[in-house]
Amino acid sequence: MGASMPRRFSYHELARSTVDFAETEKLGEGGFGGVYKGFLKDLSMWVAVKMASRTSKQGIKEYVSEVRIISRLRHRNLVQLIGWCHEKGELLLAYEFMENGSLDLHLFKGKSMLTWNSRYKIAHGLASVLLYLHEEWEQCVLHRDIKSSNVMLDSNFNVKLGDFGLAKLVDHEKSTQTTTLAGTFGYMAPEYLFTGRSTKESDVFSFGVVALEIACGRKATDYISLEKQIRLVEWVWELYGNDSTLEAVDPSLGSEFDEEEVRRLMSIGLWCVHPDSEFRPSMRQGIKVLNSEASMPLLPSKMPIAYFLPPLASSLSDFYSTSQYQSLSRSLEPPSTESSKQTTSSSANSSSSQFISMSHSMQ
Ligand SMILES: Nc1ncnc2c1ncn2[C@@H]1O[C@H](COP(=O)(O)OP(=O)(O)O)[C@@H](O)[C@H]1O
Ligand SMILES: [Mg+2]
Repeated sequence: MGASMPRRFSYHELARSTVDFAETEKLGEGGFGGVYKGFLKDLSMWVAVKMASRTSKQGIKEYVSEVRIISRLRHRNLVQLIGWCHEKGELLLAYEFMENGSLDLHLFKGKSMLTWNSRYKIAHGLASVLLYLHEEWEQCVLHRDIKSSNVMLDSNFNVKLGDFGLAKLVDHEKSTQTTTLAGTFGYMAPEYLFTGRSTKESDVFSFGVVALEIACGRKATDYISLEKQIRLVEWVWELYGNDSTLEAVDPSLGSEFDEEEVRRLMSIGLWCVHPDSEFRPSMRQGIKVLNSEASMPLLPSKMPIAYFLPPLASSLSDFYSTSQYQSLSRSLEPPSTESSKQTTSSSANSSSSQFISMSHSMQ
């Protein structure tokens, strides 16, 4: 990884590199605009040029946050920012090009068949960079949008975490941020949906969802069973409780996987998505289990149910009109295919809901 600092580019340079943002060069489409493949002649390197929406305030905010945060971070599992451009009202970011695109393309869209070995390595790389963001840098960085389409893969399938549009810096002692509710349904922790307060634990939750997606080759937001409306997390937990975790493994792996590692990855995944944030591991604990330096967690055989009490609401009708309640109920509706893909922002301001887990305590 080159250690050079990101630099400013002219609009002309970036436009030329992508053949004027040609449709044929499009690598992906996120919440706020397209990402295009380009070639910078001067540097003789391939880049991915991300366009931010200049019409939306949110788009500009995300652009600023992405440049500010990612240009200061250094880790082998972070996608490197090469430069930026704001000119003629355009906001552009140039990243090193990741040959293997994002993880979702491999897991769900048939770009390639990831071997078990590379899956385990990917989970490890993602855990390492999250540990760095949460604990090893001068401030705590909350990514707030961990999901498989934001995990890039280089030519050797090394993880490069990207998309810092929603990231926030917080002091280590505080490690919590109350802001506009933003993230992606299916990856957002229940207490975060409810309070709008992002924490290390809410990032850990999203990591857990990705860990399960990696092992199962299924999307977090897909219903495994429509009649019972079971989602990935609940389905894996049910199998775990019946001691049949291995049934959840991506069928396209056949029998080509390491049983012990599958059990580890799935139980870390479930541990991280524990509905009660207090029971989730830190990324440091998670990595220890991935490395077989600590034993696997013993989780309740039934997935605990999350209940929330809003102490500020003086009556039930007050409570039902709160934005938290509304955003929670929205999140429980089956997602339309489009909206489940998109990063979402909506307003949730209260910070005083109380989480009560009717969890069967850890065994
Ligand atoms: N550096 C890169 N190399 C290759 N593909 C990339 C790169 N950055 C982004 N992409 C592709 O574009 C998609 C959207 O990029 P992302 O940075 O997540 O933007 P957004 O904020 O719009 O979601 C990714 O899911 C990925 O498929
Ligand atoms: Mg993205």
